[in-house]
Amino acid sequence: MQSIVSYKNRGNFGDSKYRGNCTGYIIKDLINNYYPTSKPKKFVEIFSGGGTGKDVAIELNITNSLHLDLNNGWDALIDEIPSGADFIFSHPPYWDIISYETQRNSYSENDLSNNMPYEKFIEKLNIVNEKIYHSLLYGGRHAMLIGDVRKNGKYYSIIKDMTWYGDLESHIIKIQYNCLSDNKTYSSNNFIPIKHEHLLVFKKNKLWIVNEKITNTIQVNIMEVTNITWRDLIQATIQYLKNKATIEEIYNILVKSKKAENNNHVREKIRQTLNNNSNFKKINNEWVLCIE
Ligand SMILES: C[S@@+](CC[C@H](N)C(=O)[O-])C[C@H]1O[C@@H](n2cnc3c(N)ncnc32)[C@H](O)[C@@H]1O
Repeated sequence: MQSIVSYKNRGNFGDSKYRGNCTGYIIKDLINNYYPTSKPKKFVEIFSGGGTGKDVAIELNITNSLHLDLNNGWDALIDEIPSGADFIFSHPPYWDIISYETQRNSYSENDLSNNMPYEKFIEKLNIVNEKIYHSLLYGGRHAMLIGDVRKNGKYYSIIKDMTWYGDLESHIIKIQYNCLSDNKTYSSNNFIPIKHEHLLVFKKNKLWIVNEKITNTIQVNIMEVTNITWRDLIQATIQYLKNKATIEEIYNILVKSKKAENNNHVREKIRQTLNNNSNFKKINNEWVLCIE
């Protein structure tokens, strides 16, 4: 196995019509890669969907495996993850991109594919991933397949936003074929369609301590930042003032910045920066951005 994988056909594993299914080859390759001589002691599949992992277990002659999904009455948010697994494969919904309620023909409030705010989805995914990690045997692995999502023009990187439990052992890119978006035409020609998924392999290397990697989005006002140049502050100010500003106007804004604190020569600094940088140009009495 290498860090980029590509499977043009999904093979004869599970229900080929199950929406959002994955190829069995990826599970098979993972097991063969990590357990080349002896099979996993116990293989658990979370979000087993159309039975892909079960057919892989049969083909590899793994008898100690469990394949769990809402569609066979098991709820990842409420029910316990079976204990004693040294290999867990999970393939959660990619937020609400495919509705599994429709596929099952029954509603579950814990279905991770329900229409919900993205932050809520990440919260629920974290709950499941933490449970999965704790259930692993020491030395065990959790391999998780998940894609990125673009919705209403915004890009969501699920792997970046979710918490990582344990040590990342591998990050594999899987080329994606037959996406829902393949038949779409896009009005913007600088749009880059998503053609890959991520396969992350986490390993439990410690018994008592869990390494958790958490993404935290904060909003920083550049007026409060000191690690910024006068040039960049002035550029932002001129853009804010619709690309035409007198020194006085720039000064009136930037004098309130953190950068200006403890500087008794702010006006001089602004004048010097404007004169010394070729990306600022004076036209009559006003400064404009000049990007050449
Ligand atoms: C991307 S699909 C998995 C597809 C599977 N790998 C296959 O090849 O068929 C995601 C699955 O997550 C299941 N699911 C969503 N929320 C769940 C929950 N709370 N507990 C268990 N399964 C859930 C859905 O029923 C769906 O089958």
